[in-house]
Amino acid sequence: MSDRPLLKVSGLQVRYGGATAVRGVDMEVRPGELVAVIGNNGAGKTSILRGISGLVRPSAGKVEFNGADTTTLAAHQKVNLGMALIPEGRLIFADQTVEDNLILGAYTRWNRDRAGVLAQFEEIFELFPRLRERLHQRAGSLSGGEQQMLAISRGLLSKPALLMIDELSLGLAPKVVEQLMTLLRNLNARGQSILLVEQLASHALAIAQRAYVIGQGRVELEGTSAQLAGSPEVMETFLGKKRKAV
Ligand SMILES: Nc1ncnc2c1ncn2[C@@H]1O[C@H](COP(=O)(O)OP(=O)(O)OP(=O)(O)O)[C@@H](O)[C@H]1O
Ligand SMILES: [Mg+2]
Repeated sequence: MSDRPLLKVSGLQVRYGGATAVRGVDMEVRPGELVAVIGNNGAGKTSILRGISGLVRPSAGKVEFNGADTTTLAAHQKVNLGMALIPEGRLIFADQTVEDNLILGAYTRWNRDRAGVLAQFEEIFELFPRLRERLHQRAGSLSGGEQQMLAISRGLLSKPALLMIDELSLGLAPKVVEQLMTLLRNLNARGQSILLVEQLASHALAIAQRAYVIGQGRVELEGTSAQLAGSPEVMETFLGKKRKAV
């Protein structure tokens, strides 16, 4: 694992009108890492991903990717550089077939590298045999877990150096969450760098090497997953349970 960060976020600030959602966040993902971002509802996790991926323009701070300053680039330019975001709520095209959704995921490569894309479809069907079986079905008719598989597949089709996922587990049954977590762990074991935003902290810490705990737009704590999972402070103060009165 190289020490030069793939993603380096410094002093990131994200504002919506007068409201500041992200207040100076520093964060790194090194090549080959799976890094988790955890924290309560409204902590600013999604806003951090929006700032990184170009869906909102940061009001301050810097987003470096592979050593280049990408802070002011548009989202599609960042996709071309190798940053892929699977947004909260999955945003698949419900009325299109599974196959059309996959082709749309590969649109940047479809005209110049169709053979490569089709070969990658095969790899994806090995990961998710369910998608091959449902290729000509409307995406909107898939189960929640299958829709998340489709969303992940679409993200992978841009061959991202960094795959960013916002709330993998949202609305899914515990068993499906387990399956998808295992899948991410396997992707990471094959070298895929991943930044995973997830409310189910213990699940995220179980597969990530490192994690950041976000609260009120700031990094409250950071460390290896083992350090954070072993810290009662994390579990009690920042995640899920109410902050203790002091
Ligand atoms: N488009 C927006 N306009 C105004 N305020 C917003 C917008 N999106 C988010 N916010 C506010 O920014 C803060 C951070 O929200 P964000 O969605 O980043 O949190 P989150 O950690 O992803 O929460 P959740 O776990 O519920 O997904 C919240 O106070 C939220 O109300
Ligand atoms: Mg969110």
